[in-house]
Amino acid sequence: MKGTVSIQGSKNTVLPIIAATLLANGVSVIYNCPHIEDVKVMCKLLECLNVKTTLTNHVLTIDTSNARYACLPEELTCKLRSSVLLLGSMLAKWEKARLGMPGGCAIGMRPIDIHIDGFKAMNVNVDCDEGVLCCASSGLSGCDYTLRYPSVGATENLLIAASGIESVTVLRGVAKEPEVIELCKYLTSMGACIEGIGTDVLIIKGCALLKSVTYTNVYDRIVAGTYLLLATAMNSEVRLTGINDISYLKNVILVCIKLGACIIKINDSIRIASDGFVKAGDFSTGIYPDFPTDLQPVLAAVLMRASGESVITETVFENRFSIAKELSKLDADITVDKNKMIINGKKEIQGHTVKATDLRQGAALVVAGVMARGYTTITDISFIERGYEDIVGDVASLGVDIAYV
Ligand code: EPZ
Repeated sequence: MKGTVSIQGSKNTVLPIIAATLLANGVSVIYNCPHIEDVKVMCKLLECLNVKTTLTNHVLTIDTSNARYACLPEELTCKLRSSVLLLGSMLAKWEKARLGMPGGCAIGMRPIDIHIDGFKAMNVNVDCDEGVLCCASSGLSGCDYTLRYPSVGATENLLIAASGIESVTVLRGVAKEPEVIELCKYLTSMGACIEGIGTDVLIIKGCALLKSVTYTNVYDRIVAGTYLLLATAMNSEVRLTGINDISYLKNVILVCIKLGACIIKINDSIRIASDGFVKAGDFSTGIYPDFPTDLQPVLAAVLMRASGESVITETVFENRFSIAKELSKLDADITVDKNKMIINGKKEIQGHTVKATDLRQGAALVVAGVMARGYTTITDISFIERGYEDIVGDVASLGVDIAYV
């Protein structure tokens, strides 16, 4: 495999930022916005609130000048997890919100109790009536709230709400993922005052009159990580461009090096070279800065051909092992025991028809298909299109025989 891939803008950064644009009245512009299904659904949700959105050539324009309160229908909210982030901006703006339950990839229970507890601490009444979340407040107030787990989504939701009210909020035990840091930077540029960015404690001095701003989205660290892992598994020389902050990828790079790849950074690009011989080892997912759970299925695919037994311990989601069943169809030797996947590397794996059941598992199947002998057919690829703008084009540009059929 040889060639250059330009890394798309980050899905999980842009989705909360789209939710946050509602806090201002005016036109917000987001550059480097990926053309993916989740962004399109998030825009449709804003359109239910009479917000105008256009996405052309990776520039997303959002005009909230005539935003009007409305209920958000379950047929849209159930399509992605980030729909729940509109709770934070709607509550700050209108002191009420009514929306269907969020959806998202089936990778565990994915409750929203931390979001709800945090809103309760901000003087919001929350009811759940036949799958509809009904929230109302007689006036949101700042609070001092400790998250029982550093949930990325709950941190983002509470951060958005706290930034849009004239009050001081202290959030303790927050997530420190790059997506949270970027959201903090965005809210700060809108006029909120946020201390402690990148630490466990955020102190937010909000403002009811935030301004619309322009933002350039960062690269997608999970897409970049997918291609780094793919290149590690193959005999390859690959360059990834658009990597403006390499620190967001540190742990993935360390894992690729442990697996046997050579990686160097030149300006805003990464060069990776591998002989395709993968070293077995023990790995664990974790909250940032540890190895991301979103790349766990991709790592599992890479380890199918490693030099011996590998173990991956999943610590974030309790049920993120759907990859094991599909990789077994490729003749991989892989078993699941509680929160561990045990993979015995084989010299060769064989192409087969496999089924995508969630976004990252689907991407992992693409990686597995490239590694396997013969052809692999992946069905239900709409899961992959939720987050990868053009995985087929990207992988084909590296010399792989891959196409839509
Ligand atoms: C975000 O999901 C990402 N999604 C996920 O990426 C990512 O896997 C995850 O963070 C962890 O990094 C988006 O940003 C849109 P969490 P989120 O709240 O916010 C438990 C992808 O493929 N929890 O940090 O939903 C939860 O069940 C997606 O792009 C509660 O118990 O993740 C899980 O075990 C998949 N109660 C853990 O926390 C809550 O109220 C982490 O969830 C919230 C979460």
